[in-house]
Amino acid sequence: MSLLEELRRLQENAEGRLAAVNSPDALETWRVKYLKGALKAAMQQLKEVPGDQKPAVGKALNELKKLLQDAYDARRAELRSARVGAAVGEAKPDITLPGDRPPIGHTHIITQTINEVCEIFARMGFTVEYGPEVEDERHNFDALNIPPAHPARDELDNFYINEATMLRSQTSTVQIRVMERQKPPVRIIAPGRVYRPDTVDATHCFMFYQIEGLYVDEGVTMADLKTCLDQFCKTYFGRDVATRFRPSFFPFTEPSAELDVWFKYPDGREAWMELAGCGMVDPNVLEAVNYDSEKYTGFAFGMGIERMAMVRHQIPDIRLLYEGDVRFLHQF
Ligand code: DAH
Repeated sequence: MSLLEELRRLQENAEGRLAAVNSPDALETWRVKYLKGALKAAMQQLKEVPGDQKPAVGKALNELKKLLQDAYDARRAELRSARVGAAVGEAKPDITLPGDRPPIGHTHIITQTINEVCEIFARMGFTVEYGPEVEDERHNFDALNIPPAHPARDELDNFYINEATMLRSQTSTVQIRVMERQKPPVRIIAPGRVYRPDTVDATHCFMFYQIEGLYVDEGVTMADLKTCLDQFCKTYFGRDVATRFRPSFFPFTEPSAELDVWFKYPDGREAWMELAGCGMVDPNVLEAVNYDSEKYTGFAFGMGIERMAMVRHQIPDIRLLYEGDVRFLHQF
């Protein structure tokens, strides 16, 4: 039998045995027998092959060596993954089963309320603006027509950082910021945090959220203010909600009013609820940002976000909104 013929038999033999190997021990035995022993013996025989046949036989031998090595590697990998499979309980994954949904969060109730309010005003042509929470007295007081001796400036009622800098106590600051950089018409709402050193209880916190509105153009009237806020209330609270405007006072509006809605609480109770401060922008405010107060008029309003969320969802304590307890938050 020629060496080439022997190599063919060796291959058949080795492949047949390898297919039957089913344990790491048997695989090792196979490796020693074929990859080491038989192939080595064939190499020895190559020396006796006549010179003219050597290249062909040498090539066949190399090919066989590679083939058996690859077959060995493949079988070893198969055995290994089979063992891993057995370790995890034999079960192949059932790819037809529905997947496990990872738990995902949702927006906070305050963010939801802000988004909803912004969306309603956006439909009436208002764009959303933001201003800094660290402010100066000009934007928090002076330009808003709040005189130097006004009690609202009291050190005990504000978070001053130094003489001229403070955490803003109202979002009305954004009215000034926007008018300073933009010519009329201006139609914006500005949600954001404000800070006042109130003692924390069920209805107060040292930080809370307001949303400010401002519309300045030629010929804006009190009728526009009432229509706009009335429309907002009907969209937010429902078509049949009643609203009323009560005369009030704010330094930055003249005349000023407070807006109440006749609110049907989820428990059946009904009462007027104070929703917003509002009014016609005081000419002094327009002059403070170099608007011509003879040519332009405007209205402004400001409301508390927590309040809206709390009455609507019957949340009894404002602190629940800030504690981040998911057992509370996931209900909304
Ligand atoms: N800034 C007022 C506050 O914090 C709320 C307010 C009242 C805003 C009347 C306004 C307004 O724009 O016209 O109490």
